[in-house]
Amino acid sequence: MRSVVPDYLTDVLGDVESDTSGKLAGYIPELATADPEHLAAVFAMVDGTVYGAGDVDVAFTIQSISKPFVYAMALSDRGFDRVLAKVGVEPSGEAFNEISLETDTGRPRNPMINAGAITAHSLAGPENLNPVERVDRVVQGLSAFAGRQLTVDETVCASEMENAHRNLAIAHMLRSHDILTEDPRAVVDGYIRQCAVLVTTRDLAMMAATLANRGVHPLSNEQVVDGAVVRQVLSVMATCGMYDAAGDWATQVGIPAKSGVAGGLIGALPGQLGIATFSPRLDRHGNSVRGVSLFERFSSDMGLHVM
Ligand code: DON
Repeated sequence: MRSVVPDYLTDVLGDVESDTSGKLAGYIPELATADPEHLAAVFAMVDGTVYGAGDVDVAFTIQSISKPFVYAMALSDRGFDRVLAKVGVEPSGEAFNEISLETDTGRPRNPMINAGAITAHSLAGPENLNPVERVDRVVQGLSAFAGRQLTVDETVCASEMENAHRNLAIAHMLRSHDILTEDPRAVVDGYIRQCAVLVTTRDLAMMAATLANRGVHPLSNEQVVDGAVVRQVLSVMATCGMYDAAGDWATQVGIPAKSGVAGGLIGALPGQLGIATFSPRLDRHGNSVRGVSLFERFSSDMGLHVM
């Protein structure tokens, strides 16, 4: 990792460090045991250069940041029409875990909220996969975006599964509308394993850089998904990635982005770079407080607003 931009990154991290507002995600008990002081930021350029500062190699669970990548896998594996028939692309303006389905079709409004992400998980891989094989397809796909083999945090996974009543309720609703066509519990189990994949801030920046680089990993040069898929994913991140804070984000940051309740946050600027931050305390939308501040700074300091 180079150390030119880090002077800037270290300065900006220093500026947000004293903000201890927000709370750890208590509804997944294991996440509430995280060190709330962790703080990191990484820039991964599309040419493969990586700049970072802070706790860039501390591992945490990817959570909802997995959603755009698994949506990309579903689009690649099943095609646009089959995915769009089951998951919409409209912002919901609601919380990430709202039981938010279109009244006529039962389709989740978008793949960034849990209802849409659980559905997208069910569409990853070819049709005949069993739940274990599907999780494998998802973990391998996330690993390809990161450029290294990723693993599941079994403790966080078990902790979320024990308290998954809301996601199970969502999945049962989806099953009642035939949006899901298999056992809702098995799909939620797979989705929760997907959310429990361990990443570092450096990994997340590389994953975002792969989106910024039209689906080609900047270091491995692997074409992970094609450019049309990336365009669809970035559009949905731009409009829905920050849930019911999407409008504030669009005006104040203006970068297609996705947050996760373990404190990660990514942004992707096509043709330029992937950005990732990590700080576990969350605002009322479930987005990292210091992560949002960092992105506001990056966007205004470097004129990164593209939306
Ligand atoms: O399904 C859940 O509730 C979690 N596994 C993920 C939620 C999440 O990360 C929301 N984003 N900020």
